[in-house]
Amino acid sequence: MRLAALADIHYSKTSHGSLQPLFSQIAESADVMMLSGDLTDYGLAEEARILAKDLAQVKIPMVGVLGNHDFESGQERDIAQILSDVGVHMLDGDTWEFRGVGFAGVRGFCGGFGRGALGPWGEKIIKDFVHEAVQEALKLESALARLKSDHRIVLMHYAPVRATVEGESPEIFPFLGSSRLEDPLSRFEVTAVFHGHAHRGQPEGKTQTGIPVYNVAHSVLRASYPDRPPFRLFEVHTASPQDQSVTPIGDRRQWGRRSTDRSDDQQGVGGGNPS
Ligand SMILES: [Fe+2]
Ligand SMILES: [Fe+2]
Repeated sequence: MRLAALADIHYSKTSHGSLQPLFSQIAESADVMMLSGDLTDYGLAEEARILAKDLAQVKIPMVGVLGNHDFESGQERDIAQILSDVGVHMLDGDTWEFRGVGFAGVRGFCGGFGRGALGPWGEKIIKDFVHEAVQEALKLESALARLKSDHRIVLMHYAPVRATVEGESPEIFPFLGSSRLEDPLSRFEVTAVFHGHAHRGQPEGKTQTGIPVYNVAHSVLRASYPDRPPFRLFEVHTASPQDQSVTPIGDRRQWGRRSTDRSDDQQGVGGGNPS
């Protein structure tokens, strides 16, 4: 089964149609499209409706999580509903299974990595901040516990490991993810993890137990693979339950028909808002 992954498309009020060629290409190449958050730019329902119109043309199953930008205007529930209405399985501590592959998704949160992770000590507001990351990790853990599939794929917006935020300014690492999100991945031996948020991070990393972590932020893919369209394609070996690997498919000839002009894909992405 082929999975296409992308994140941080940051659809704005002027993005109408901007990624439609990319979505079409994904639908021709993959069996499932995964969206790892920051689907809108200012978290407006209006932006989500513009994206939903473009996604409505996609005839393969879609699964996604929200990102921090999708919360900016307090309209995150509307955004999730609008995208659900066009068939995106929006996960917030939820699961979805398709052809023997299980998906679990959370937004995640920040707080830093490893020994540098913020601890729940001192002021209440610090404890509340840490609590948010702990809660997201618990949501992920309970979602993974419910999955009975041989292959378990995780979507999140924030990074669970430091490796895929390398390249960003070290000063902002603590705001790009949390290693509290890593524990459930290892405990449930997930097949692979896909996140975004670190727009200037690295495309690939691993958890301490060797689980592959992919940063599929739109700008990371553009910078890392300038000769390819900005999504990543993976093969999950569904015929072999024991084979827990995912194989990145990087050869364009394996992707199905390719559009000739990708220059319009960048519209609606990024803007002045980091991550
Ligand atoms: Fe983000
Ligand atoms: Fe982003």
